[in-house]
Amino acid sequence: MTKKAAAVSPVLVRHVIWLGWKLVVFLSFALCFIALLRLHFYPDISSPTNSLSRTRWRSRIPRYNFDGPPKIAFLFLARLNLPLDFLWGSFFENADAANFSIYIHSAPGFVFDETTSRSHFFYNRQLTDSIQVAWGESSMIEAERLLLATALQDPANQRFVLLSDSCVPLYNFSYIYSYLMASSRSFVDSFLDLKDGRYHPKMAPVVPRDKWRKGSQWISLIRSHAEVVVDDEVVLPVFKKFCKRRPAVDTSKGKLNLKLQKQHNCIPDEHYVPTLIACFLFLSCQMSELEGDIERRTLTYTLWNQSATKMDNKAWHPVTFNYADASPKRLKEIKDINHVHYESEARMEWCQTNSTFVPCFLFARKFSRGAAMRLLSEGVVGPFDASLLLGNS
Ligand SMILES: *[C@@H]1O[C@H](CO)[C@@H](O)[C@H](O)[C@H]1NC(C)=O
Ligand SMILES: *[C@@H]1O[C@H](CO)[C@@H](O)[C@H](O)[C@H]1NC(C)=O
Ligand SMILES: *[C@@H]1O[C@H](CO)[C@@H](O)[C@H](O)[C@H]1NC(C)=O
Ligand SMILES: *[C@@H]1O[C@H](CO)[C@@H](O)[C@H](O)[C@H]1NC(C)=O
Repeated sequence: MTKKAAAVSPVLVRHVIWLGWKLVVFLSFALCFIALLRLHFYPDISSPTNSLSRTRWRSRIPRYNFDGPPKIAFLFLARLNLPLDFLWGSFFENADAANFSIYIHSAPGFVFDETTSRSHFFYNRQLTDSIQVAWGESSMIEAERLLLATALQDPANQRFVLLSDSCVPLYNFSYIYSYLMASSRSFVDSFLDLKDGRYHPKMAPVVPRDKWRKGSQWISLIRSHAEVVVDDEVVLPVFKKFCKRRPAVDTSKGKLNLKLQKQHNCIPDEHYVPTLIACFLFLSCQMSELEGDIERRTLTYTLWNQSATKMDNKAWHPVTFNYADASPKRLKEIKDINHVHYESEARMEWCQTNSTFVPCFLFARKFSRGAAMRLLSEGVVGPFDASLLLGNS
């Protein structure tokens, strides 16, 4: 017996040690797995500031529930403050607080509070992770994506309207709310530019030439399209590499400027979203209805100065509306526009939302303070109450 026991016990011991090791290994794997799961479901733990990755994870869940009415997210791209905040303040005053939300991308560190804003609606609505934006460069797209990513975190946000700091509303809140909610489509200005010299052949095959689109940067997206823009990891890198603005002429460089002027020139924000949406149609079959889900026009009216000479590149510029230009007659002309003509595609868009004919434009740019003041006093966004202005100044 003892012999047998003596013979058995080392085997048993080895067996126990072996089992112990297995347990340790198993436990470590289990712990790793649990940790991974936690990271996956609570990505904030790993990167509290990275709202993009957080949203990317969130956006893979197809449907969310939310209480209350669907909201419009107003996304302001500002250089610094919002000079027309008094007009927007009055606009939001006439809204139901549950029907909208506000996000502002401004210069990093700029805070909206009583010292920088005339309307409480903007207090602390700035993104905390905003970046330095160079106008006409890809940082502009990054800022748009940050705004969309942050706004996507609120499941009640169902429409995402991008606005500049010189944009004004042409109607009261309830009109704009029902206009946008009545349509299940995005409004993305998107057209072919036959004279285009901005497409870079190296963008192919990700962005083939026939998917290259141009359009106003001022878009309004439905939620699923906002997710497409935030999730994009394919088209953006191509843009960053091959769609760059040509540096401005620098007289101190003399002859070097000739070479500079021959460099490829591209303004990313005028191409990114329309091209992205056209590309998804091409890249991924599930998205094949994407371009069909958009109204191919912008909701933001811009008046271009066409008197500019061809030589002067800078002159092809939006006209700024001053007090005298914002007369009721002028405003009515803009609000009465019911179709847009895309010459390069011989396309006429009769403006519609959910198959009902509507005015084309809900917003307009670029408006000076004086012009915005005139809209306010004419009751464009709601009944005008002069005491509101006096009380806040
Ligand atoms: C909002 O504007 C629309 C159209 O301009 C008008 O019919 C409506 O009465 C206005 N609503 C409010 C609450 O002012
Ligand atoms: C707010 O949303 C509700 C529900 O969608 C809607 O009935 C109401 O008219 C909206 N209010 C305004 C001022 O647009
Ligand atoms: C669009 O119009 C149809 C028919 O009038 C209506 O049944 C539908 O609810 C509308 N869609 C939205 C999103 O309001
Ligand atoms: C249009 O551009 C021309 C030339 O740059 C300028 O003289 C004119 O004032 C501009 N018009 C408006 C309405 O801004």
